[in-house]
Order: sequence, then C-alpha cells, then structure tokens
Amino acid sequence: MATSLCYAKPLKPFSLRLPQTQNPQIPTQTTQIREAETLTITGPTQLSGHVPISGSKNSSLCLLAATLLCSNSCLLHNVPTGLSDTKAMLSILRSLGAKIEFNERNKEILVNTDGVGRVEPCLEEMRKIRGGFFVIGPLLARFGEAVVGLPGGCDIGERPVDLYVRGLRALGAAVEISYFLICGNRLCKPTISHSNTEKMAGIANFCIITSDDTGLQRDGRVLAHSANGKGLVGGSFHLDFPSVGATETLMMAASMADGVTVLSNVAKEPEVIDLARFLNDSGACVYGAGSDKLLIKGKCQLRGCECYVPPDRIEAGTFMLAAAITRSLISISPVTPSHLSCLIDKLKIAGCKITRCNNDTLEVRVSAIPENVCENLRGFNVRTSPFPGFPTDLQPPTMALLTTCSGSSIVEESVFDRRLGHVRELQKLGAKIQVCGSTALVFGRETRSALHGSQLRAADLRGGVALVLAGLVAEGTTQISGIGHIGRGYENLDTKLQFLGADIKRSIAMASQL
Ligand code: EPU
Repeated sequence: MATSLCYAKPLKPFSLRLPQTQNPQIPTQTTQIREAETLTITGPTQLSGHVPISGSKNSSLCLLAATLLCSNSCLLHNVPTGLSDTKAMLSILRSLGAKIEFNERNKEILVNTDGVGRVEPCLEEMRKIRGGFFVIGPLLARFGEAVVGLPGGCDIGERPVDLYVRGLRALGAAVEISYFLICGNRLCKPTISHSNTEKMAGIANFCIITSDDTGLQRDGRVLAHSANGKGLVGGSFHLDFPSVGATETLMMAASMADGVTVLSNVAKEPEVIDLARFLNDSGACVYGAGSDKLLIKGKCQLRGCECYVPPDRIEAGTFMLAAAITRSLISISPVTPSHLSCLIDKLKIAGCKITRCNNDTLEVRVSAIPENVCENLRGFNVRTSPFPGFPTDLQPPTMALLTTCSGSSIVEESVFDRRLGHVRELQKLGAKIQVCGSTALVFGRETRSALHGSQLRAADLRGGVALVLAGLVAEGTTQISGIGHIGRGYENLDTKLQFLGADIKRSIAMASQL
C-alpha cells in the first residue's frame, strides 16, 4: 500500500533491487510490425472541412506521471488514448502497480496509484518514450526512491538528463547512473556505476544509442533515493536551459518535498502551466507557472483530482500547416490561439488568412477569396526556441510548407541538435534544401506542384508528419514507411485527413517494399 511507502517512513537506499526479469531485451516486435505499415498518399490534393483536435500528448504524459503523487483516484478527461506514447506511459504506470480504468470512447482515464508497490517501472516501456523518465520525480517525492531506465523518444539529438539529475540532487536526492553495453540479447559488459559528479555529467550525455559498427547498444539505469532516508527537501536550482521535461519533473518532486523550492530559468510552455494547475488542484502550492521562476511549497500529501487535458497545440499547428501547404480552407477546434501565436504570425506573413471563429475555433485559408485558393504563398524565416518562441515540434512540417512557397527561407533549429532528418526525405520529393549545421536553406518553388511522389521513410514523429504534408501536394504517389513514429503523436492522422478529402491509405507493406 502507498501509505507504507510514504516518504516520511525511512527507507533503506535502493531497497528494491533490480529483478532478473528486468534485464535488457533489445529488439521489440512492436517496432518491427509498425515498421511494416505504410501510408500511401496520392496528390496533389486540396482539403476542406473541420478537424477535431485531440488532447495534448505532452501534457497527458506529464499529468499521467503526476498521478503517482496523489492518493485516491485522479480522473483525466480528453486524454489522447489512441497514441502509442500514451499507451507506453499507461504501461509504465501499470508496471509500478497503478490501477487504470479507461473509457476509450470518452477519452477518460481513471488512475489510482495507492497500490503502487514498486519504484522500478518496466524498462522496455521506458525505452519507448521520453516522457517515461518524468516518473523519477513523483516516485522520489512520494516513495523516497526510484530506479528508472534512461529515456527513449525520438532520435533528434543527444537529449541528456543532466538537468534532471542535478535538480533532484538540489532537492536532497542521491542520484547515480549505472550503464551497460548490450550485444544482441546479451548484456555484454557488467554494470558499471559512477557516483562521481563529473563522470555522471558525462555519462548522462547519452540515451540509447546503437552503433552500426559494433552492433553494441548502450543503455543505463538511474538509481535515486532521498539522501536523508526520509524524503526530499526544498532547495534552489537554476536550469542552464529551460528544459520542459526537467522543469516538470522538478515541479513534481518539489511539490512533495519538505520546505520551499525555488526553480529559476524554468520552461514557460503551456504544458508546464497545465501541470501546475493539476498539482494545485491536488493540494500542492505551485506559484509562478508561465514565468521563468517557480516557487513551490511542499506538502506531505496530495489527493487525486479531476482534470481536462487541453488540446494539442502541435497537432493544431500541423493541421494549420496542412491547410497552408494544400492551399485549402479548413477549420480546427478546440484550439488555444495564444499557444500558436508564433505560427499564426508566420502563416500571415506567408499570405494565409487566419480567422478566429469563436473562442476555440480557428479557420485557416490561403486567400481571402475562397475561389482563389491556389494563390502562391511567400517564404519566411524561422528560428525555433523555447515557448513563447517558434515551437521546435512544428519546424519539420513548417519546412515542408516552405518548399512550396516562393523565394528562399532560412530554418534554424536551435533546441535539438539533430532535428533535420526529414530534409533528405523531402529532397527525394524534389525539394531544394541545403543544410549547414542546424540551419537549412529552403529554396521555394513558385508552385506547389513542383514536388513529385516518391518512397520515403519517417525517422521520427514530427519529421514523419512533415513527409505526410509534403505527400499531400506532391504530384503522383508518395509511400511513407516508418509510420509507427507518427502514431506516437497524432491520433488517427490518416482518418482525419481522409475526412478533409485527402487520398491517403494505410497498408501493410511486404518487407521488400520497404
Ligand atoms: N536538455 C539538456 N539537459 C537536460 C534536459 C534537456 O541539455 O537534462 C536539452 C535537450 O538536449 C534539448 C533541450 O534541452 O536540446 C530541450 O529539451 P527539453 O528538455 O525542453 O525537451 P523534452 O522535455 O525532452 C519536450 C517534449 C518534446 C518537445 C520539447 C521542447 C515531451 C514528452 N516532449 O521534450 O516533444 O520537443 O519538450 O518543446 O514533453 C515531440 O512531441 O515530438 C517532442 C519531441
């Protein structure tokens, strides 16, 4: 029972040892099966109609992790239950002993974490998503210890966890990373632990990497416990970079730490505000969400609450870009326009008309005159940055749009160091793009029909959706494999596009077709 694991009760460090069954198992059948699915798009196409926007993936992942802090049940509405990332997070919670009931039709999830009896979530599920790592905060705060795998997620850069580790240490946690190398299904090197801080920072600089040369895969576990054996304590921590995940994890940890915590240079993303609202509704005291400083007064117990997951701003932005690239007229809801102001400004510069129909509905069209929807759009420059800057998650689909606009555009990715993987695939469609470091120079075309269909492979979530948007306007047939990545963050993307009039089909390809 959770009460027996309450942080106030002294726990022996790492009392819950790693069971044998948690040893690394590398290949996942699921990934291989998903790899075999393809999307076939016949273009060019024009869209029309209305798209319902699902609940936010990134908010849901974080709110689900936060349920680990709460006694009694939490009821979450509007959860994107169809996403594979949501499913992985639910599996992580179940592997800890949480009871989950869900109503797929109503998108409601009831989570009760009172029966949590383990502090080590399933390693295989952890490897699938970045958000799984967030559980380290609530596990430490409520149960005094956590043993978690290094996170997975899209391969878009190094994505270290040093800010999480240093922040948790500032709250009185002892944190250590053990790592290992894996060959095939075997652990080929014994686990090596480093407790030295300097070495830790270096070791934290990798997630899961497969080396083509050696076939070795590096993986690791993070072991954390409250250093005083009683629980976390309030403290101060300055984040070198306003990391969204580190901010959220530290907020969760601090909300049950003993005393006051001050976090500075924190992320200001809407998902951070969603989490603060959830924590406060659960009885926590979190002040300053949306600014660059958070003050959190720790409570010894939080109770479950009911919350509504806000609409996914990235999915909404993607459909706005779909309307622009296809020179169409569509409406989307629900959406919070202020969360998309950077994109809205850029689309207006390009020549799109964006109308707010009511509080939560936007209409996007390329021309003020509906008959003139094929009018050309102008290119624009983009530099991604933390909120309220241009979202990195919208950089790949924006680049797809820019390949169809007039003039040349500069796209600078400043948040992740390897998020231009879609460029090579867009080039296969005929797009003219030059890359220098993290910057891409996109040479626009005078008409969208300059792109032609091809066989493409999605290598990550947002890069994958960029290929779908480009496929909508490419002349002929575009076949995209690797679409399991897209299912991580877009619920029923193909069905939603079909309703808007796109010719898009999902099928299982023969291995030789991939
Ligand atoms: N970073 C560090 N050290 C850390 C943590 C982050 O150096 O300890 C660096 C990262 O390497 C990166 C930058 O900080 O260069 C930003 O990373 P951040 O931590 O803000 O991102 P995240 O929490 O890993 C979340 C979303 C991402 C989204 C980013 C930025 C979730 C589960 N993921 O990731 O979503 O791109 O914030 O907004 O919330 C996606 O949905 O496709 C996606 C990747």
